[in-house]
Amino acid sequence: MSVTAVCPGSFDPVTYGHLDVVRRVAARFDRVVIACLRNAGKQPLLDADERVALLETVVADLPNVEVAAFDGLLVDFCRERGIDTIVKGLRAVSDFDYELQMAQMNTALGSVETLFLPASPIYSFLSSSLVREVARFGGDITEFVPPVVAEHLARRPPTVPPP
Ligand code: PNS
Repeated sequence: MSVTAVCPGSFDPVTYGHLDVVRRVAARFDRVVIACLRNAGKQPLLDADERVALLETVVADLPNVEVAAFDGLLVDFCRERGIDTIVKGLRAVSDFDYELQMAQMNTALGSVETLFLPASPIYSFLSSSLVREVARFGGDITEFVPPVVAEHLARRPPTVPPP
């Protein structure tokens, strides 16, 4: 039997923290589908096509990992593909309340189980929103995201208006 896991997220942008989780999941499941939420927040930094393209680039060396964009409910995405396992990284206790609620809602909606994987300690402070913030003010993000992501963000016009 082949077992597939879904790793969902907004990936705006993908960070080394996401990649660490995906690699560890890919080492333990036959197949991993990264599900990238199209409509990520009110004003995503990157549009869905950019986020998916960057994800595809950074997991290109993992033969059992694929990337798909989705709209709507994650359980529908899982149901359409016959997948019943979601894996999410947990960085801190502060993540837990909301993640637990979502996991329980997803089980109630679609009989999909969520497994939580603790973030590696070196990445436990890392989030896409902090990377966006640092990038927005011209800070160095090269420690936090793969080079292709840092280069992509550097090519974008600055979003902080001049004083
Ligand atoms: O990277 P994020 O923002 O933590 O990812 C959150 C995500 C995409 C996993 C979550 O918001 C999601 O699954 N959204 C789709 C709508 C849905 O199914 N919500 C959960 C049930 S209410």
